[in-house]
Amino acid sequence: MVAETVLRPADFIAPLFVVDGQAAPEEINSMPGVFRLSIRDLVKECRALRKVGVLAVALFPKLGSQLKDDEGTHALSEDTLVLRAVRAVKKALPELTVITDVALDPYTSHGHDGVLTPARDDVENDRSVALLAQMAVLQARAGVDLVAPSDMMDGRVGAIRRALDAAGFSGTGIMAYSAKFNSAYYGPFREAVGSAQAAGTRLLSKATYQLNPANRREALTEVLLDDAEGADILMVKPAGLYLDIIRDVREVTRKPVAAYQISGEYAQIHAAARLGWLDLDRCRHESILAIKRAGADLILTYFAKPMAVALR
Ligand code: PBG
Repeated sequence: MVAETVLRPADFIAPLFVVDGQAAPEEINSMPGVFRLSIRDLVKECRALRKVGVLAVALFPKLGSQLKDDEGTHALSEDTLVLRAVRAVKKALPELTVITDVALDPYTSHGHDGVLTPARDDVENDRSVALLAQMAVLQARAGVDLVAPSDMMDGRVGAIRRALDAAGFSGTGIMAYSAKFNSAYYGPFREAVGSAQAAGTRLLSKATYQLNPANRREALTEVLLDDAEGADILMVKPAGLYLDIIRDVREVTRKPVAAYQISGEYAQIHAAARLGWLDLDRCRHESILAIKRAGADLILTYFAKPMAVALR
C-alpha cells in the first residue's frame, strides 16, 4: 500500500540479438539466458515477450566479419540483416514497438561506432553523422517505430530528425542514447555482437565520443542538446552505476527517460548467482526497481522476459 515504486512489464524494453541463417539459438557466453537468434526465432521470442506484456524490443545484429570493413559500408545496403529482421517482426506483430540501433559498430572492422579520421586516431564526427542519418532512414523505411542512435557523435539527433522528416518519416521517433558513458561494463555486449576484436590489434577505446564516467554536468549538457535537437526519449546508459544521472535527467526534461541496464550489469548478477553468492531473482528485481526509483520511465534490460513473467 505504501510502495512508492511499482514495476510493470510495460516498463521494459527487451534488447535482442539477431544473426543470419537458420541455426538454433546460440547462448552468449557471458550472458546466461541471452541468445543470438535467427530471424525465425526472433519473431517467436517477440511473440513470447508480447504475451507476457512487454511492449517493445531493441534489435542488435551480429554480422559475419566478411561483411565488415573500415567504412562500415554494409550499413547502408538496403537488405541488411537488421532490416530484414525488422520487416519480419513488424509483419508478424505490427503492434509491437520495434527499435533499432543507429551506430556503425556492427559494420566496422575496427568496432567503432563511426568512421575514422585519415590518421585513424579518432572517429570523424561529421562524416559519421551523415552515414548514421542515412542508416536511420533505411530503418524507418523498414518499419521501425523508434531509431536509437547509440553512437554518441555530436549533432546526430538533429541530423537524423531532419533526414527522417525529409524522407517522409516524420512519425518515426528517436530514442537517443544521450548520456552514454565510456563504460567497462559493455564487454559482454561486444562479445555478443562481435565488435570487441578491434581488428585484433588496437585497443577499442570509445573515450573520445562516449562520456567520461566522472562527469555529471557534461552528461546533462549532452542530454539537453539531444532534447533540443528533437529526441523523443532520452536515455542514460549504463543504468545501475549512474542512478544520480538518471535522477538529474528526470529533473531537467519533460520527455520520457529511458535507462539501459547493460550487459555487464546483467552478467555480474548472473555470475554472483552462479557462485551461490547472490540470489538471482531478488537482485534482478532490486537492481531494476532502483533504476525506476531513480526516475527512469523505461528500462532496457536483458531481464525483461523473466521480470515480466515474475510480475504477472
Ligand atoms: C554500440 C552499443 C553498445 C551497446 C549498445 N550499443 C556498446 C558499445 O558502445 O560499445 C551496449 C549494450 C550493453 O552492453 O548491453 N553502439
